[in-house]
Amino acid sequence: MENENKELNIILMGPPAAGKGTQSELIVKNFAVPHISTGDMFRAAISNKTPLGLKAQEYINAGLLVPDEVTIGLVEERLCQDDCKKGFLLDGFPRTIPQAEALDNMLAKFNRRINAVVLMTADDEVLTERITSRRVCPECGASYNINTKKPKVDGICDVCGHELIQRKDDNAEAFKVRLDAYAKQTFPIAEHYAKQNVLGKVDALQSIEEVFADIKKILLEAK
Ligand code: AP5
Ligand code: MG
Repeated sequence: MENENKELNIILMGPPAAGKGTQSELIVKNFAVPHISTGDMFRAAISNKTPLGLKAQEYINAGLLVPDEVTIGLVEERLCQDDCKKGFLLDGFPRTIPQAEALDNMLAKFNRRINAVVLMTADDEVLTERITSRRVCPECGASYNINTKKPKVDGICDVCGHELIQRKDDNAEAFKVRLDAYAKQTFPIAEHYAKQNVLGKVDALQSIEEVFADIKKILLEAK
């Protein structure tokens, strides 16, 4: 692992379909941090029909953000678990200024802070193309693409053998709402982290390997 003696608290941010889940898999293989995706946590809650899932599902299917009070509590609980003590990778959180401020406060209580925020950038046309060709595994969360990251057997997850599906919010209508939510509510948090001198930008239009090489550089230089 690249970060054996260093605490690494990472945020991966970027518009929907930028490749956050794809790059998270590679980061976890190279750096000893747990992957915390609020989207994956909500989807698991929806498939288990928990009270959280019932609350979140209408927002998610419509492409809207789940309210801050629900999301912040969920992340706070997760970050208190033992595997986060030496670092973590947040994918899809924070997504609003109040979430970013709440995260800063949670960490400050334990004398901790965010070391690196990786901002993945891409244009809407490419993102729309990626979203319509994405297939995901509802069982283990692995993400594929029928053009750029094909599973070994058509329609079947390489990792767990489950049948692949398209996410409910991966339709043109919900995707427009997600892009809009990103531009209006999430993108402004980049400035919040630029002020803390922890923001690094990566061109997400490159190949999966090239994007990861840039991310790795940012994480190795993180202080
Ligand atoms: P979430 O699950 O976080 O979805 P998202 O941000 O819309 O992002 P995606 O998961 O769709 O895309 P990704 O960036 O992970 O891309 P991927 O790697 O799959 O959130 C879903 C919903 O949950 C939200 O809309 C909201 O309702 C709710 N939610 C979650 N967090 C919340 C929060 N904090 N507050 C409030 N609400 C919250 O890649 C996409 C495709 O492209 C794949 O097919 C992949 O194979 C392909 N690909 C990836 N990289 C490349 C590349 N470099 N070249 C070519 N193809 C590529
Ligand atoms: Mg994702």
